[in-house]
Amino acid sequence: MLKGHFITFEGIDGVGKTTQSQQLVQSLEDAGHSVVCTREPGGTRLGQLIRGLLLDSQLTDISQQAEILLYAADRAQHVQEVLKPNLEAGKIVISDRYLDSSIAYQGYGLGWDIERIREINRWAIAGIYPGITICLDQEPRIALSKTGGDRIESRAIDYYQRVRSGYCQIAKNEPDRFHLVSAEGTIDEVFQRIWQIIKGRIF
Ligand code: TYD
Repeated sequence: MLKGHFITFEGIDGVGKTTQSQQLVQSLEDAGHSVVCTREPGGTRLGQLIRGLLLDSQLTDISQQAEILLYAADRAQHVQEVLKPNLEAGKIVISDRYLDSSIAYQGYGLGWDIERIREINRWAIAGIYPGITICLDQEPRIALSKTGGDRIESRAIDYYQRVRSGYCQIAKNEPDRFHLVSAEGTIDEVFQRIWQIIKGRIF
């Protein structure tokens, strides 16, 4: 039985997820909650090794199947080692990326079979689904101008357009869970949008 709340952050690279998720941790802790902040890929020791493989700019020939499975392997370990125990202990767990990243990036972005990705991940995540997802939304050209250049980030703008459209599709399919939030404005303006959503669900 999961007593805690599982919140995930999503969005294309450069939208400011990490800043906003840290801000949320701070605000929830200030309100007296016990919060765990984590991320994918790389939320565990094994995950950090997998992250190194996935973002290695020298590894240009990872097959799409291998890429999907590496993200799923990172996620499976993350669920068992971090997410499940903390949710069972009644904590608020905030993850910078989760399952929707694979649907948006590998599914909508690369055009890989979304049902297959869901199926592989269904096994990997063992029933641990987020209750609330905040997806920061911004035009790829603006978001990407704020990032450096690893293997994924050097892919073309139209790839990120497809990823963004994928997130919009998920928001249409699951409006109660998946909230698109504009990433335009100051850090505080964006955070206030997020806080309105979280406040209504957690308190
Ligand atoms: P992340 O560290 O969140 O990068 P950023 O802060 O730039 O958004 O994620 C690393 C990259 O991994 C990012 O480009 C998205 C990608 N990714 C996938 O393609 N599929 C996945 O399932 C996950 C979790 C991440």
